[in-house]
Amino acid sequence: MKKMIVGNWKMNKTTAEAMVFVKRLKKVKSKADIVMCPAFTALYAVSKLLGKSKIKLGAQNMFYEEKGPYTGEVSPKMLGVDYVILGHSERREYFNETNEEINKKVKAALKNKIKPILCVGESLKQRKAKKAKQVVGNQLKKCLKEVKKNEFSRIIIAYEPIWAIGTGKTATAEQAQEMHSFIRSVVSKIIGVKSSKKLKILYGGSVNPKNIKSIFEMKDIDGALIGGASLKLTSFARMIHLCS
Ligand code: 13P
Repeated sequence: MKKMIVGNWKMNKTTAEAMVFVKRLKKVKSKADIVMCPAFTALYAVSKLLGKSKIKLGAQNMFYEEKGPYTGEVSPKMLGVDYVILGHSERREYFNETNEEINKKVKAALKNKIKPILCVGESLKQRKAKKAKQVVGNQLKKCLKEVKKNEFSRIIIAYEPIWAIGTGKTATAEQAQEMHSFIRSVVSKIIGVKSSKKLKILYGGSVNPKNIKSIFEMKDIDGALIGGASLKLTSFARMIHLCS
């Protein structure tokens, strides 16, 4: 399977800064599928810059309603993107997003022909209590509720252990592989083993040019969702080269 590299810029970069980055990124050769996820405010400008480029555009969140009196929210139809990150742990933690809301967002994205990148992952406390799989299994079950079998080909799962995000502390390749294999087995119960093999499962959490190779060597790791190390073109381009 072709590897996928997704850059999640979080709340970083003005529109002007995003444009400078993307202009340079377009010149980087890549064998992987690349998705850039800037802030809402930069989406339109970046989409114009990307044009017919192979680099795809993603948003970092959206609301599930299509329009209406929801001050400050952004609907799927307004985004103009190919992908949307949903259920990121920062949204769950700081904005109290629940699995039920995330499930509505997943369904709204699919309805609007946007591919959801659904984030799941446990906290350190949950891992220490040996509840990591239980937590991730529950997130998958609730966030994917009522998603039709034929829609799974448009879903991407990102496993991001909370304790590895922005901490410099990556899960070992083996820890990540174990959870990715578990995620695939959970999904295989819904769509069957054969189809589940096509599911893209990304790893996220302190991925950088030094560790990406060993992470990508794992059987069930199909790509990476990268925060901090996606902000500088040099490190982002290095990671793209390393997986080519
Ligand atoms: P870092 O790569 O900065 O740890 O962030 C990971 C992440 O949250 C990507 O969505």
